[in-house]
Amino acid sequence: MTDPDAPCDATPAWAALAAHRAGPARDFDLREAFVRDPGRHAALSFEAPEVFADLSKNWLDGPTLALLLALADERGVEARRAALFAGEPVNGSEGRAVLHTALRAPRGAATPHNAEVHAVLDPMLGYAERVRADPGITDVVNLGIGGSDLGPRMVVQALDAWTHGGPRLHFVSNVDSHDLAPLLRRLDPRHTLFVIASKTFTTQETLANAEAAKAWFLHHGGEDLARHFVATTTNVTAAAAFGIDTTFGFWDWVGGRYSLWSAIGLPIALAIGATAFRELLAGAHAMDEHAAQAPAARNLPLLLGLLDVWYRNFHERGSRSIAPYHQGLARLPAYLQQLEMESNGKRVDRHGRPLGIATSPVVWGEPGTNGQHAYFQMLHQGSEVVPVEFILVRRTSHRDGDHPPALAAHWQRQHAMLLANGLAQAQALMLGKSAEAALGDKVPTAAAGIDPAELARHRTFPGNRPSTTLLLDALTPRSLGALIALYEHRVFTSGAVWGINSFDQWGVELGKALANQLLPRLQPGPRHAEVDGLDASTAGLLRRLAR
Ligand code: F6P
Repeated sequence: MTDPDAPCDATPAWAALAAHRAGPARDFDLREAFVRDPGRHAALSFEAPEVFADLSKNWLDGPTLALLLALADERGVEARRAALFAGEPVNGSEGRAVLHTALRAPRGAATPHNAEVHAVLDPMLGYAERVRADPGITDVVNLGIGGSDLGPRMVVQALDAWTHGGPRLHFVSNVDSHDLAPLLRRLDPRHTLFVIASKTFTTQETLANAEAAKAWFLHHGGEDLARHFVATTTNVTAAAAFGIDTTFGFWDWVGGRYSLWSAIGLPIALAIGATAFRELLAGAHAMDEHAAQAPAARNLPLLLGLLDVWYRNFHERGSRSIAPYHQGLARLPAYLQQLEMESNGKRVDRHGRPLGIATSPVVWGEPGTNGQHAYFQMLHQGSEVVPVEFILVRRTSHRDGDHPPALAAHWQRQHAMLLANGLAQAQALMLGKSAEAALGDKVPTAAAGIDPAELARHRTFPGNRPSTTLLLDALTPRSLGALIALYEHRVFTSGAVWGINSFDQWGVELGKALANQLLPRLQPGPRHAEVDGLDASTAGLLRRLAR
């Protein structure tokens, strides 16, 4: 057994993968692979709770998969996953356990902190139901940033069809006053509830927005601060000092980017209600069980995490594009940017030793079909190959009775268009179009007199561009919970292979500290416009800004 604490690129499995990449896998072509193996789609499709995954359009085959699974084995991924679930301090640099999985375990489960979790969940959901039934509260504003914003914001948008009967939800994160100010203009303090969401209750952006909201509330004669402000935090003392009575707490073993399942999910519960919130948890829990129990060769988050390693380290792919074909998932790419890049954007291993290999890719994307009319040109014909992840949802989310029947039929036709586009993009990336095929095209928009061979070169698609398709039957609280948990376990997998701590985020500290040093130089006061000790560029810019 190889030492799982050794650098991952010093293991026999890594060397075997490198040799495989340089040898048998060197000229892998998707089109040929499908001809060679008519069973390829079935062999490389996987079922997990609520999610069907087609991995067959990836630069992957049986031998590659076997080597990747051997790598997971050598890296002790299974043991690390067990340590995660058991509540061992897998976040070593902060000495913390990482137990978002415990937040979605059902009452009575033999998971760590089960009683504590439900002792907060029950009153929080009770509170959410009371607010939802209160006709006096029409608008809820969540003030939080990063993990205290991205998850709830993404989920509330995704589950719009489940938001009937509750208040309108708004999310403000940026310290830029242009985020909060336009919203406040539209709100009535008598009918507004502010959720101050901050794990630490020390985050500059959130506290600045909370102070502004309080000032606005009091200025407009707002009374009963306790009814109109609620906090979700681990720092109950700081919330009380702010003047907030109602606080739903959580624990240091819940990482910010893994916190939507905790009290940070309050805006979700306010939007969709207690029953649907419990369904979200149940979907995530089902995926947890799959991650913990499914055999490695059928374990979807494990396989996706290994595929990420294959592209990042053996094909040098620096980015991955997310293309959710459901407008409700418009914020999923932004959510995944934090989940993946804050978790795995590391350059040292979990013992602080420099890594000799690449880690987190850039994750980016837009919902389909919008992306097709923006950057898909580059994906099809650009010089860089970017693996793409399509997320298709079989059924629409519209509720019966919300629209006249004629429109409902129209939505179905539009949904077929959406799905056809998603499937077609994956097909086009893989199949491409040869110069010969392009030569045969009639192209009415081509320049008059252009050389047909030149035109064909412009119109050639190389193809053999990889993609994964994740398929949901419908976008429901349960399937969304499962999908998010799938990504969490996937990110854990690649992090475990690389041997990094996926649960700290020291990289955000330096900028915060420097901003605090610059702040007095940009505000009225004795240090205004002071440039002592600054580098020449920052000094020059500060002089201009402080004029
Ligand atoms: O960006 C750094 C970070 O610590 C994130 O990990 C976290 O989600 C975010 O700031 C917000 O922190 P808090 O919930 O403590 O306000």
